Amino acid sequence: MKVFVTREIPDAGLELLKQAGCTLTVYTDKINLDRQQLIHTCKTQDALLSAGPNLLDANFFEECNNLKVVSLHSAGFDRVDINAANKFKIPVSNTPDVLSKATSDVAFLLMIAVSRKALYMYKKILDGEWGFFDPTADLGVELYNKTLGVFGLGKIGVEMAKKCKAAYNMKIIYNNRKPNETAEKTLDAQYVSFDELLAQSDVLSVHANLSDETKGIFNKASFGNMKPTAIFINTARGGLHDEKDLLHALQNNIIWGAGLDVTDPEPMAKDDPLLFMPNVCVLPHIGSATVETRNAMATMAAKNIIAGLRGERLPNIINPEVYQ
Ligand code: DGY
Repeated sequence: MKVFVTREIPDAGLELLKQAGCTLTVYTDKINLDRQQLIHTCKTQDALLSAGPNLLDANFFEECNNLKVVSLHSAGFDRVDINAANKFKIPVSNTPDVLSKATSDVAFLLMIAVSRKALYMYKKILDGEWGFFDPTADLGVELYNKTLGVFGLGKIGVEMAKKCKAAYNMKIIYNNRKPNETAEKTLDAQYVSFDELLAQSDVLSVHANLSDETKGIFNKASFGNMKPTAIFINTARGGLHDEKDLLHALQNNIIWGAGLDVTDPEPMAKDDPLLFMPNVCVLPHIGSATVETRNAMATMAAKNIIAGLRGERLPNIINPEVYQ
C-alpha cells in the first residue's frame, strides 16, 4: 500500500508505517508543497498523511477520490472540506488530545510572558538598552486571583484552566458551544455568554476550532468589549482573530496585551508591528512542538493510516458519517 507523507515527521510514525508494509513517499523539501504536486502525487497513492497547511478542499477530494484514508498530523482540521470527504466516503482523522498539555503550556507561557513584557525586555537587552534602574518603568501586571476566560473549553482549554487555577488561583469562566460539566465540577468553571466572557476576562485564552462560525470572532467589536487591562491569548488558529483589529486594539489601549502562537497570515512578516510592541509576544506556531508530543502525533497519525488501509474504523475519525 502506498502512502504519501507531506512532511518529514518523527521516525516513530514512519517506522510504524514501514512495519505495516506501507511504501512511503515522503516530501522532504523545506518549502510548502505545491498544490498541483499534492494532487498529482495523491492520485497514485492509497493514503495521505498530511502534515502542514495543505488545503484539502472539494477539488482535492474530487481529484483524489482514489484515497482510502486521509490522516492529518494535527488536531485542527480547518483546512479540510469534510463534506467533500464524506461525498467520496474518504475517512479523515486527526491527532487530538496528545497535544493538549504541550499546547496549553504555550498558552500559559504566553500569558506570563505578556504580563511581564518578557520578550520585549529581552529585545531591549539585545539592543543595548538595559539602562539604569527606574522603579516606574516597564511594569507588568500580576495574575494572582484574576479571571481566566476560555473560549472553547475542550481538552486544551481545560489544561490551560488547570494550570491557571493551580498557579494563580484564577477564577475560570468559559464560553463553548455546549457546557462542559466536568470542568464545572473539577475546576469550578462557570459558563458565561460570549459577551460576558469578553467583559469579565482578565486573560482571555482562545482554544476553539476555526470554523465559519468562529472565523474573525475576535474583532473590533469584541476587543472593544474587553477590559482595557485584559490580555488576549490565541494558540488555536490565527483566523479566529482579526489581526488588524487586534493591532488597533493594542495600539489604542483598548486591551492591555496579547500573546499569539498563531497569526493570520502565517508566517507573519518580519516587520509586522505586533512584533515590536511591549505587551505583545508572538511565537511561530509551536504549540505542539515538543519531542514527546510530536512523537505521539506521528504515531497516532500512522495508526490511523494503518487502520484505514486495513478497512478498519480510524481510531481518531473526524467524519464517522462515512461509515453509515
Ligand atoms: C494542530 O495540531 O492543530 C496544531 O495547531 C498544529 O497545526
